[in-house]
Amino acid sequence: MKTNAPRPVHRWPVRITHWVNLFAMICMFMSGWEIYNASPLFGFRFPPQMTLGGWLGGAIGWHLAVMWLLAFNALCYLLWSLFSGHFRRDLLPLGLGALRRDIGQALTLRLKHQHGRYNAIQKLMYLGVLVLGLLLVLSGLAIWKPVQLQGLVDLFGGFDTARYVHFFAMSAIGLFVVIHLLMVIIVPRTLWAMITGGKHE
Ligand code: HEM
Repeated sequence: MKTNAPRPVHRWPVRITHWVNLFAMICMFMSGWEIYNASPLFGFRFPPQMTLGGWLGGAIGWHLAVMWLLAFNALCYLLWSLFSGHFRRDLLPLGLGALRRDIGQALTLRLKHQHGRYNAIQKLMYLGVLVLGLLLVLSGLAIWKPVQLQGLVDLFGGFDTARYVHFFAMSAIGLFVVIHLLMVIIVPRTLWAMITGGKHE
């Protein structure tokens, strides 16, 4: 049945996949940190309270199980966004001119948030985190199946480099989340819209 109700700011597929993604991300981050602790790349370990799985085997179990949820959820989001026009309408186009203007306005604290329309900085952040997610998945696949996916491992320049890429992509997504949360704290009404759908301004 077709209704004349106005289109919400965030339609239900975006809202559901966004919150499922948050749950999956928390599990992936925490279990990933436990796996890292078993063989650290750098001179530090993550505090045990911030990890999931209890030990290496348990953490790998979590990481590989939630990986499927994350991948399925991401696929739903990507396909829906592509075919519904969400990417074309809401996340594109992203021009250098608009980016320069919006960065200038943000630096002078004049950038306004408008419900239902992303500014160029938001577009860059959201498209950027999607690219980082792809890098994280590809480097993760290379580490998970290095024998079967030798070509992919070579593309990263070897197993060890793929591990570093995986770590830095995780760190960049972590940084995105921190900035993203700060933005939500600055404009808290966006949170309600991401839960209920919200109305265009
Ligand atoms: C507690 C954690 C989080 C909260 C409270 C939150 C909240 C929000 C809110 C309120 C928006 C809408 C912004 C607006 O209308 O201006 C949004 C959009 C978005 N968030 Fe989050 N978020 C969280 C975690 C994450 C994580 C972990 C990711 C991915 C790594 C993520 C990726 C995105 C993306 C890509 C969008 C744009 C969605 C679209 O329109 O397609 N968020 N988030």
